Amino acid sequence: MSITTAEIRCAFFDFFASKGHQKVSSSSLVPGNDPTLLFTNAGMNQFKDVFLGTEIRSYNRAVSSQRCVRAGGKHNDLENVGYTARHHTFFEMLGNFSFGDYFKTDAIQFAWDFLTKELKLPKEKLLVTIYHEDDEAFDIWANKIGIAEDKIIRISTSDNFWSMGDTGPCGPCSEIFYDHGEHIWGGPPGTPEEDGDRFIEIWNLVFMQFNRQSDGTMQPLPKPSIDTGMGLERISAILQNVHSNYEIDIFQNLIAATAEVVGATDREDKSLRVIADHIRSCSFLIADGVLPSNEGRGYVLRRIIRRAVRHGNKLGASDVFFYRLVAALESQMGEAYPELKENRELIEKVLKTEEEQFSRTLERGMNILNEAISELDSDVIPGELVFKLYDTYGFPADLTNDVAREKNLTIDEAGFQASMAEQRKRAQQASQFDTDYNDQLKSNCSSEFVGYDQVANSSKIIELFHAGQAVDKLVDGNEGIVILQQSAFYAESGGQVGDTGVLTTTNGQFRVKDTVKLGNAIAHKGVANGEFKLADVVKVELDIERREAIKINHSATHLMHAALKQVLGEHVNQKGSLVTEERLRFDFSHFEALTSEELQSVEKLVNGQIRKNTQLQTKLMNLDEAKSAGAMALFGEKYEEDVRVVSMGDFSMELCGGTHVKSTGDIGFFKIVSESGIAAGIRRVEAVSGEKALELVQAQEQQVARLAGLLKTDPDGLTTRIQQMIERNKHTEKELDKLKQQLAANAGADVLSQVIEINGIKVLSTQLQGVEAKSLRAMVDDFKNQLSSAIIVLGVSEENKVSLIAGVTKDLVSKVKAGELVNFVAQQVGGKGGGRPDMAQAGGTEPSKLVPALASVKEWLQDKL
Ligand code: ALA
Repeated sequence: MSITTAEIRCAFFDFFASKGHQKVSSSSLVPGNDPTLLFTNAGMNQFKDVFLGTEIRSYNRAVSSQRCVRAGGKHNDLENVGYTARHHTFFEMLGNFSFGDYFKTDAIQFAWDFLTKELKLPKEKLLVTIYHEDDEAFDIWANKIGIAEDKIIRISTSDNFWSMGDTGPCGPCSEIFYDHGEHIWGGPPGTPEEDGDRFIEIWNLVFMQFNRQSDGTMQPLPKPSIDTGMGLERISAILQNVHSNYEIDIFQNLIAATAEVVGATDREDKSLRVIADHIRSCSFLIADGVLPSNEGRGYVLRRIIRRAVRHGNKLGASDVFFYRLVAALESQMGEAYPELKENRELIEKVLKTEEEQFSRTLERGMNILNEAISELDSDVIPGELVFKLYDTYGFPADLTNDVAREKNLTIDEAGFQASMAEQRKRAQQASQFDTDYNDQLKSNCSSEFVGYDQVANSSKIIELFHAGQAVDKLVDGNEGIVILQQSAFYAESGGQVGDTGVLTTTNGQFRVKDTVKLGNAIAHKGVANGEFKLADVVKVELDIERREAIKINHSATHLMHAALKQVLGEHVNQKGSLVTEERLRFDFSHFEALTSEELQSVEKLVNGQIRKNTQLQTKLMNLDEAKSAGAMALFGEKYEEDVRVVSMGDFSMELCGGTHVKSTGDIGFFKIVSESGIAAGIRRVEAVSGEKALELVQAQEQQVARLAGLLKTDPDGLTTRIQQMIERNKHTEKELDKLKQQLAANAGADVLSQVIEINGIKVLSTQLQGVEAKSLRAMVDDFKNQLSSAIIVLGVSEENKVSLIAGVTKDLVSKVKAGELVNFVAQQVGGKGGGRPDMAQAGGTEPSKLVPALASVKEWLQDKL
């Protein structure tokens, strides 16, 4: 066997360690501290600040194997996966880095030595590109390394000027290519055939020299540095003598596992590759804390999972399958990435839940799509259909596109986006119930919030709105918005509801029903009682009791958030929050319902912290400082550079602008009210605190006392009493069943006395009392047995309904058919029916006609028998 991928990874580390490089672990796929990036997409991401000189490390040479995802963001390869030999959503990038230490000469020499001496690649198979102006690099390759000049290709495009994003570290680069041989189509870089598969880039050496600014200018870096990236899968393909990355050991093993799990026989099926690729990105993303959702990173993950599930379905997977590949992945990559092992259970659960949820709509969505495709009279799937599949069946647009591509069709992306925009508009309109306050309303002012430690103040009116317009005054009875220079009223944000209260002048009172933010202004919404003019000075008083109740719920929310993380794990992240005077509601990422033990542990932890009576600390800090101190921040939330950090001892630290208690003891008591799921992977806990928590417990206690009273016992005796009742009930039901059977048997005996004979044949045509329609079949069978040869019609009536059944023993079906017989009767009671010759059923709607109808059977049969 040729060298394995794992061995190549090790060889890379060893080589660069021997050249004084510090081995650094791969960073998370969720870039810390970098809002410009969706997912980690290169080895240098974690060193961005080191290149910029704003972070200093204890080493100036590093080597790493970085997990990367290129899906959904600026670098998006999702839709190509499965169609090409080398696109992946997830890949590993081997890299060596110099932070102001060595530069071009050593970087080139190291790369050359590793490839030709360590890995023993034939020199004649290699060629290189350089940035067209980079004579220094040309000179090193030509004179120091000794590459023929016609194999050093100057490229003037951005292909040879690498940048991490629109801003940040960048510089010219030199790429090393491998020639897979004449038998594969393609030309060297810079030629029209460069997109072929013959010449493959394996290593990119970036000579980091600049920091690109948002206006495009290039600021020199403090020290020239080196960043390199070599795709591990590509180099493995070369060393394992295969052409496609999907043929290397890791992928072959994953493909084999996939084939087994879905029961596929054709190993070349492209869907196997898609799944083998996707299990890597999905598992690593979940291990790094991303959970499927409808926005941001979570939505990219959801799209990848759904695409994998669709391909599994195409391969004929008969059951939920995707999560079953995590074990195979762990055995391939768990050693190099311990986070896979540590999170295996979580990964499996999340994948399973997501697949189960999607499977329910996948088939119906596919049917609709296939039907629409078969009726299509162009090559484009309409945007509205793409939207409908997305909206109703959970098909991300790229999944529909994937199906389209298999059939040589495309999707109307613009039409889809238009439908999405319309939906957003509808949603917005639906929430604009309040005509006085809407998106169009803009304030030109800004107000200062003085309510952290004040509940009243006085201030000048600086802006007024009425009926959606800025006005000079509000007259008596006007609804409107008052904006003040300073206010103690908290404007709704961060989940905390806005304050209510009154604004008073000598002319009247403005009752504030709600407070919201309008740009930088605090907008008091309410009704004027008296006249209010610009520049009036008002006394500001908020509803103190309500604010107090809100405060304790807000602080309790922080404690609960921290407790949930402790009890359930670090993957718990806030997804939504509402703090009112009544209760608190908190949505967070977690993959299954909380057990009652878990809920109790959370309650215990929170109440423990309350009893500790820790003083709250609030501090203004720099955002980076706050995050590195461990403050919990919301994923994807935009924060100012300076943030307010609220901490409660060493138990909780969160970025928060809300109002809080002075000490945790002020909360008094905390109690969870309910726990539920609101979307896949998102749970909701509602809780109460302080007085409300006490009220809740008291109400529950009263309820128990009432129940105990009803059952004539005390609360402690309730369980035993109810168990007894359940037992007794079971017993009674059994008795009842027995009695019913006896009654039916007796009724049967009675009925048999009504058998008559027509021309020597036994006939029973009668109405039954107290028999349920569903018992009729069994009764006919029973009578047939007892009478051996007979024609039977039975009818029962309930309210407005008649049920009929006819039975004819086999020996008589040549004379009379049960279907005809039952229809003959049914017609007379307003119905019809049918069935087999020996047994047929019917219904009717006129119970009053049942008796004569049954009686008429005698005459009808006389002719036939
Ligand atoms: N950062 C460089 C790349 O991603 C090495 O290609």
